[in-house]
Amino acid sequence: MNVPAPGLAMPDEAFAVLTDWLPANDDHARPLIALATVDIAGHPDSRSVLLSEFDRSGFFVHTDSRSRKVAGVEAHPEVAFSIAWPADLRQLTVQGVARRASTDEEASAYARRSRYLQLLAWLNTPEFALLPTDEQEESWAAFDAAHPDGTLTSPDTWLGFVIAPTRLTFWEGNPRAASRRIEHRRAADGTWSTATLPG
Ligand SMILES: Cc1cc2nc3c(=O)[nH]c(=O)nc-3n(C[C@H](O)[C@H](O)[C@H](O)COP(=O)(O)O)c2cc1C
Repeated sequence: MNVPAPGLAMPDEAFAVLTDWLPANDDHARPLIALATVDIAGHPDSRSVLLSEFDRSGFFVHTDSRSRKVAGVEAHPEVAFSIAWPADLRQLTVQGVARRASTDEEASAYARRSRYLQLLAWLNTPEFALLPTDEQEESWAAFDAAHPDGTLTSPDTWLGFVIAPTRLTFWEGNPRAASRRIEHRRAADGTWSTATLPG
């Protein structure tokens, strides 16, 4: 398996395009990615998650430790995701290897989440999901009132992954010509190569 060493950076050209295409990490509006994993039975699985932040080492997402994706990633750390901006004629697809983010990164990502998502991280439990809506709303409001803004830290179930890319593919459309892709691939020896492909 082509597992990048922690902290191994992606090529400068790829990072420059990411910086152009993705919102800055301090932008409150986080992009939504379709994250594909392999589940514990070996079947493909996918769901939408927020891209919390990115840096030269990879892409950070945050989730609940009890979620299916966590069991899947623990069994099969190789993942993929895609994100498209149809109006801008752009798509990014990434293959990579997920590993647990640092405790500091997890804490700072939680602190940057909206108030709603901070509460959700606490209340998104199997028991809560079973409550009738009116009881959910009462419990939510009570939890909210008991934990003023700025006092909550992440629950033990809050977990971050960083996806270290092994392949980054930038697709661009052109209404007057063919779409095409610029693809950066990381070889087993850690070197990166770039290819231009049809769209
Ligand atoms: C707009 C949107 C944003 C979401 N963001 C996240 C997220 O950042 N992290 C997360 O764990 N789930 C997020 N979810 C919920 C997931 O899509 C998914 O339902 C949940 O994580 C359970 O997935 P799993 O059972 O495959 O692990 C989001 C869903 C939507 C529709």
